[in-house]
Amino acid sequence: MTATRYVTPFREGGSLPGLIEADDLGMYVLKFRGAGQGVKALVAEIIVGELARRLGFRVPEIVLVELDPELARSEPDQEVQELIRASGGLNLGIDYLPGSFDFNPIVRDPGTELATKTLWLDALTLNVDRSWRNPNMLLWHREPWLIDHGAALYFHHSWSPDRPATKDFRFDAADHTMLPNAAKLSEVDAELAAAITPELITEVLALIPDEWLAPDGEPVEVRARYAEFFAYRLAHREWVEAVEAVRVARV
Ligand SMILES: Nc1ncnc2c1ncn2[C@@H]1O[C@H](COP(=O)(O)OP(=O)(O)OP(=O)(O)O)[C@@H](O)[C@H]1O
Ligand SMILES: [Mg+2]
Repeated sequence: MTATRYVTPFREGGSLPGLIEADDLGMYVLKFRGAGQGVKALVAEIIVGELARRLGFRVPEIVLVELDPELARSEPDQEVQELIRASGGLNLGIDYLPGSFDFNPIVRDPGTELATKTLWLDALTLNVDRSWRNPNMLLWHREPWLIDHGAALYFHHSWSPDRPATKDFRFDAADHTMLPNAAKLSEVDAELAAAITPELITEVLALIPDEWLAPDGEPVEVRARYAEFFAYRLAHREWVEAVEAVRVARV
């Protein structure tokens, strides 16, 4: 996909995502490679978004968008101009859901199953960005859709040979937006864990452009590290009990 027009910035987003039109005439929310969060936020968007989709969650389509930095010329805002100039090449596009609004579980009950599964998914992927303050879920056509997985997999910002992806990372569920609606995690744990096969993880990791992985090493090795993270986290599911303890304490 190639961006043909920068339409407008989304003032809500911390990373200053923009609405763009692409050469398929579709509108996409563009997450810029040159934004402060860096390219790893885009890697996390692909891994967690595409994993969630394959597990049956509603996630808007994710595409790769080629951006010509010359599009900055027609943009009056200097901050946006700089962002476009810093993001020439491949960026991340998310299918724009027109007429959607922020999902609020107090206004609309997401249902126990979706709430419990979302909590489980976010705990697995260390997604610290689905709190009641910032739910990162949209209501569209009366259904909740998951967005914004850029803050997940936070370990990848600091990995090194002494800080491997295979250890027990902390996930704080206390502020999770789905906590009040979720049921026992054990009710979804076996089904979701069994659905995440090594083949599924390989399929998802293959969707990341090599150039986004290259800063961390040989892309094939970086993919293997992400795969090790999932294998370890699925084999050591003490985090399920930890989240369950937080849920029970709250209820
Ligand atoms: N696919 C979409 N369709 C319609 N609106 C969207 C879509 N994706 C994002 N938005 C809107 O843009 C806002 C910012 O998007 P998003 O949360 O993905 O960006 P962000 O920069 O990571 O934000 P933050 O880190 O502040 O949560 C959302 O709160 C939502 O209002
Ligand atoms: Mg957000």
